[in-house]
Amino acid sequence: MEISIKDADGIVGMRTAGRLAGELLDYLAPLVKPGLTTNELDRLAEDYTTQVLGAISAPLNYAPGGHKPYPKSICTSINHQVCHGIPNDKPLKRGDIINVDVTVVKDGWHGDSSRMYMVGDVSVAARRLCTLTHDAMWKGIMQVHAGACLGDIGHAIQTFAEGHGLSVVREYCGHGIGRNFHEDPQVLHYGKRGTLEQLQAGMTITIEPMLNAGRKDIKELGDGWTIVTKDHSLSAQWEHTVLVTATGYEVLTLSPQGPATPAFVTPSA
Ligand code: MF3
Ligand code: CO
Ligand code: CO
Repeated sequence: MEISIKDADGIVGMRTAGRLAGELLDYLAPLVKPGLTTNELDRLAEDYTTQVLGAISAPLNYAPGGHKPYPKSICTSINHQVCHGIPNDKPLKRGDIINVDVTVVKDGWHGDSSRMYMVGDVSVAARRLCTLTHDAMWKGIMQVHAGACLGDIGHAIQTFAEGHGLSVVREYCGHGIGRNFHEDPQVLHYGKRGTLEQLQAGMTITIEPMLNAGRKDIKELGDGWTIVTKDHSLSAQWEHTVLVTATGYEVLTLSPQGPATPAFVTPSA
């Protein structure tokens, strides 16, 4: 698939979809509590998406090549689950960390974002992993401008993560996004500066690093979707949808109640 460049109308559409994805994550944040099941969270998200946002959940029945249709509206990945966890009837418990990944479609445009939520009090190690993974995502975002290379993003994330003793999952990556959920290019979260495709203004991509407290290796569970760390170490992920501009970036999935931008992030021109 070719890399799509959004014109002015496309950018308006992507801004709206991105804003709604952020709004959905804001809505879910205070609902994540010990005792809630991820199926209940899935239902709340689906109802909010359709009834309040007037949008569609992209994950529901999503079936990229070789996969059986994804059965739920959101992905919920708990503790050692890396990504694509399927909501179920197991209650969340105090100390869990959970990634909630949402993708909404509005007027045909996709907004894709995920956050970590902490269930009650969590361990210092779990909190540190969540914070550092958020920082790592922003290290990647800060590389974005027309003329930068995809390898600059991967390098920034990998260097930061490994410098803090965390490992970068290789098998899953960010992606172009627009009228399709997943478009070219692939946005790797590791790599070398000055390599791979050059970014152009009007591209929209996701940056969504998955960092493990232990080794980088993963495996897929028998449900055909859920990815976990092989060594059962904790894993965290954050995701934003980002527009490439001539001089920098515009994060499309920011929201009023999202986490503060890390102090090292200087405003994009
Ligand atoms: N939202 C995920 C991403 O960031 C993809 C989930 S695919 C699903 O790319 F089918 F599991 F929902
Ligand atoms: Co994504
Ligand atoms: Co996502």
